[in-house]
Amino acid sequence: MRFLVLNGPNLDLLGTREPETYGSTTLAEVGQGLDALAAQLDLSLRHVQCNDEGGMLAAIRQASRDDFDGAIINAAGFTHTSVVLRDVLLATQLPFIEVHISNVHARESFRHRSLLADVASGVITGLGVVGYQLALRGLAHQLRERR
Ligand code: DQA
Repeated sequence: MRFLVLNGPNLDLLGTREPETYGSTTLAEVGQGLDALAAQLDLSLRHVQCNDEGGMLAAIRQASRDDFDGAIINAAGFTHTSVVLRDVLLATQLPFIEVHISNVHARESFRHRSLLADVASGVITGLGVVGYQLALRGLAHQLRERR
């Protein structure tokens, strides 16, 4: 199986961005850890990070055209605002897990709403960067069960 790992705006700053909230692991380190786990689980990953909505849409559309099996998506701030991201996920029907490093429900009220959560296969929030690994295991498990 092939999965897209899609990270939204400002997640390229992981490691230095608000470390008290997001920790000190860089996005490159997150990606390396995911690649190691993917090899164990016999999966392959495409990593994309985008600071704009259009790039995120393009990555999802490309994964769908390439017949990818699913996605791990941390849409960052766009989680709370983006109708177009929701629409492209509905249009492509790409199964995905929504990931947040921080516990969005313990933060400002504008972060409590997600436009993606109800169309996701699952949501992981507040477990730090290990949430990405759990999402990968969870999505692989869900999709293998469905087969
Ligand atoms: C985030 C939470 C969002 O509210 C925020 O805008 C981010 C990161 C997280 O991973 O905790 O950029 O998605």
